[in-house]
Amino acid sequence: MSEHPLQTMGQQSGRRSWAEPWKIKMVEPLRMIDRAGRERALAEAGFNTFLLKSDDVYIDLLTDSGTSAMSDRQWAGMMTGDEAYAGSRNYYNLEAAIRKHYGYRYVVPTHQGRGAEHLISQVAIRRGQYVPGNMYFTTTRLHQELAGGIFVDVIVDEAHDPQSQAPFKGNIDLGKLEALIEREGAANIAYVSLAGTVNMAGGQPVSMANVKAVRALTAQHGIRLYLDATRMVENAFFIQQQEDGYLDQPIAAILREFCDQTDGAWMSAKKDSLVNIGGWLAINDAGLFEELRNLVVVYEGLHTYGGLAGRDMEAMAIGIAESVQDDHVRSRVEQVRYLGELLSEWQIPIVRPIGGHAIFLDARRFYPQLSQDQFPAQTLAAELYLDCGIRSMERGIVSAGRDPKTGDHHRPKLELTRLTIPRRVYTQAHMDVVAESVLAAYQNRDRTRGLKLVYEPKYLRFFQARFERP
Ligand SMILES: Cc1ncc(COP(=O)(O)O)c(C=O)c1O
Repeated sequence: MSEHPLQTMGQQSGRRSWAEPWKIKMVEPLRMIDRAGRERALAEAGFNTFLLKSDDVYIDLLTDSGTSAMSDRQWAGMMTGDEAYAGSRNYYNLEAAIRKHYGYRYVVPTHQGRGAEHLISQVAIRRGQYVPGNMYFTTTRLHQELAGGIFVDVIVDEAHDPQSQAPFKGNIDLGKLEALIEREGAANIAYVSLAGTVNMAGGQPVSMANVKAVRALTAQHGIRLYLDATRMVENAFFIQQQEDGYLDQPIAAILREFCDQTDGAWMSAKKDSLVNIGGWLAINDAGLFEELRNLVVVYEGLHTYGGLAGRDMEAMAIGIAESVQDDHVRSRVEQVRYLGELLSEWQIPIVRPIGGHAIFLDARRFYPQLSQDQFPAQTLAAELYLDCGIRSMERGIVSAGRDPKTGDHHRPKLELTRLTIPRRVYTQAHMDVVAESVLAAYQNRDRTRGLKLVYEPKYLRFFQARFERP
């Protein structure tokens, strides 16, 4: 061996390496178009990565939503789809999987997460009521506002600081929540909206101690606590690894213990549950369930399919069971960490600690020469695409939208570009290519100019807004 032998990934960190608990049996070829082609494609897309054609993308880190690779068992399950309009057997399999792993009694399937957000918002919010939450999520807040709710951010302050190393930056600040209850009165609070992990904060987890404390406070005031369970499995992994007393507990048990603190949950199954489409809403209150299963018929479909095919529900039921396996969750989160550690090692500014589903580049520190009105995170997403066809997503001023009352931009403290890792899709070599591309953009940072917003739609503008170079 030479004096400086090449080291495996594990050796570099002084431990044994891990590997994905699966092998690849089918592949989808990738292609990278040339630089001139990428320039053209990006200009045609109005410098918005949501408007690129997927065929023009090399490594697609736009989102982890609906982009997972399904297992052979999930595909086999799809062949057992019971496409009856009513009472599909796959619905009952899904109901059983949710009851077992998330613990809620009543289940309403929906076509995806926002379908469930719509239903719970319509049923549980009275016009003018407050909805405290641990940072906003785009579709969640919009549905709460469309139902007449007023969102209030009660997350801990550290969540807004990309450099804070606090291990549970998704936690609710009990002081902020208590002050809101005191000021507005419990009757004026629709429910507490708790997400685990917190997407917009960088995939940051909520601790078990925090959810228990929030439960105690809300119970004291008769306020309901609902969970956005979209990435709750990943949240359970962080509890296992970082919170006292959980290292020996399986993810599945931690997930149940956490959900048991809440009155119900909505879910975008396109994330944790390893499916390409699907969602659900599940609660323990029989009266509310009656209302929800009536409303789902209006917007999604009958209460035993909610906008999904039977085969989709079967894939989801199987995906739920696979998603709570410890070796799966570990390899998923460790892959994200691998990319984050590389970038940190190279002094590239990212949100720390590294979250569960994505690396969030801190565009403010990346481009200190740009003001927030020059859309630094949108600019960085454009630059990464130009460098070698990597697609990321803006999570800053564009995603935050406008204040419905004043019409001004919301100006979030966090101005981030998200590299989201799909589950079971890319290899460590892909992560290396991504890391080198981020490094190239970083080395070119002084020469980078911002963007000008030239079009924005009324709702969720980040999906369809268009930009130009000034
Ligand atoms: C935390 C969170 N909640 C809700 C949603 C909405 O789910 P969907 O995209 O399935 O409508 C998402 C999707 O990105 C999410 O990340």
